[in-house]
Amino acid sequence: MTSAPHPDQSPAPAAAPGQEGGYDFVVVSNRLPVERTVEAGEASWRRSPGGLVAALSPVMARNAGAWVGWHGAPDEVLERFDHDVFHLAPVPLSEQEVADYYEGFSNATLWPLYHDVIAPPEFHRTWWNSYRTVNRRFAERTAEVAAQGATVWVQDYQLQLVPRLLRELRPDLTIGFFNHIPFPPLEIFGQLPWRRAVLEGLAGADLIGFQRPGDAQNFQRCVRRFLDVPFKQGQARFRDGADEWTVHARSYPISIDSGAIEELASRPEVRRRAEEIRHELGDPETVFLGVDRLDYTKGILHRIKAYGELLEDGSLTVGPSVLVQVANPSRERVESYVHLREQVEGLVGHINGQFDTISHTAVRYLHHGYPFEEMVALYLATDVMLVTSLRDGMNLVAKEYVAARADGSGVLVLSEFTGAAEQLKQALLVNPHDIDGLKATMVRAKEMPPAEAKKRMRAMRRHVMGHDVTGWSEAFLRDLARARAEARPAAGQEEER
Ligand code: G6P
Repeated sequence: MTSAPHPDQSPAPAAAPGQEGGYDFVVVSNRLPVERTVEAGEASWRRSPGGLVAALSPVMARNAGAWVGWHGAPDEVLERFDHDVFHLAPVPLSEQEVADYYEGFSNATLWPLYHDVIAPPEFHRTWWNSYRTVNRRFAERTAEVAAQGATVWVQDYQLQLVPRLLRELRPDLTIGFFNHIPFPPLEIFGQLPWRRAVLEGLAGADLIGFQRPGDAQNFQRCVRRFLDVPFKQGQARFRDGADEWTVHARSYPISIDSGAIEELASRPEVRRRAEEIRHELGDPETVFLGVDRLDYTKGILHRIKAYGELLEDGSLTVGPSVLVQVANPSRERVESYVHLREQVEGLVGHINGQFDTISHTAVRYLHHGYPFEEMVALYLATDVMLVTSLRDGMNLVAKEYVAARADGSGVLVLSEFTGAAEQLKQALLVNPHDIDGLKATMVRAKEMPPAEAKKRMRAMRRHVMGHDVTGWSEAFLRDLARARAEARPAAGQEEER
């Protein structure tokens, strides 16, 4: 590995704020909340888009916070540095670790396993060894950064071993874990050769959060079966030598920065851009939209297939209708993603070849990421939003669409297999495997009387505007502080944040 100084920041201060040179609040996630950009040969960092980063920024600013994570490039060691409200502690990954820990165990073993085995998970001992090594490195980095008695919040499936490793290194810490993706049923989780080690890793946390109550129940059943530890009312006692602690497991459905999206959607330039988009699409009567990472869990093929059949049977016509599909490039070296891209692009090419006219396209397929303002303009330009995931922890695109539609117009077609479906009950819920059902729902969405659409959208907006990502993080951190106060009454009083 090379050792590169950080391009635009001075080295981290020798003694960071907090007790004993550490930070009182530490977030740990596979990726740091910043991205490196290079403009005119100048490298700099900018804050990553996304709700988690937005939600945790104020907590970081208030609590002398640090963030531990990978900065996204292999074979590069960066010093700790400060960027806006964050103190950043980069964890290096070698090229081999990117292949084995990130692309391999995280995204070709755990990701498909936790998403209903839509793609077959691969089990390789070399990948598992790398996952263990990298999780240990994250835990060690966190132990260096955290102040005495600090609160640490570990994020997502890439880091499930960190809570236990960290507890061993630093029993003084309060440890939370949030799983952003589904937690699978026992019968599926049980396929994992390292199932006990993963559950033990997670059970190092004082509080484990899941998207849906069903995910928390799946986890509890797995712990009972594979570790022989029963949960009662969401709590279980664990023991390791002299150390004994309580693990709490429950659901905290994540949300978005609803107010910020509503505000963006009200800006005249964004509204103008929405009109421009419709015009550029040939002023159709109905714009259908899909926005996803190009991932096989998202049901992109099912959606495009249904759309193609609606053109085929004459229910929709090119010109009056268009489907815009934004597919953000993702995990592009993982085989199942390469294969999916070929399938999606083959299908789009097939449909467009058959139905395009000289002036209009059937499916406008965009394999890029866009600035968030452009996405909000697209939401505003859309009549029918299609979220057809085969399995999805939450799906924030569904919530973003609702937050953007301040005038109450627009129809959301939403897969039953998303966490969001438990909250957005007035969406048109679909089973994306049922292509005929999906087609009928897409036609119903297109033809929905405006009064009914408004009624549904307003009800969904009440939910989304009243439950934002700040509320989510506050609820989790409040319960974590409580769990800590119950476990260690004297220390707990200082922890309310
Ligand atoms: C999902 C996961 C996140 C992950 C994101 C992007 O939302 O829950 O943990 O960061 O996908 O995937 P990537 O592999 O690019 O980090």
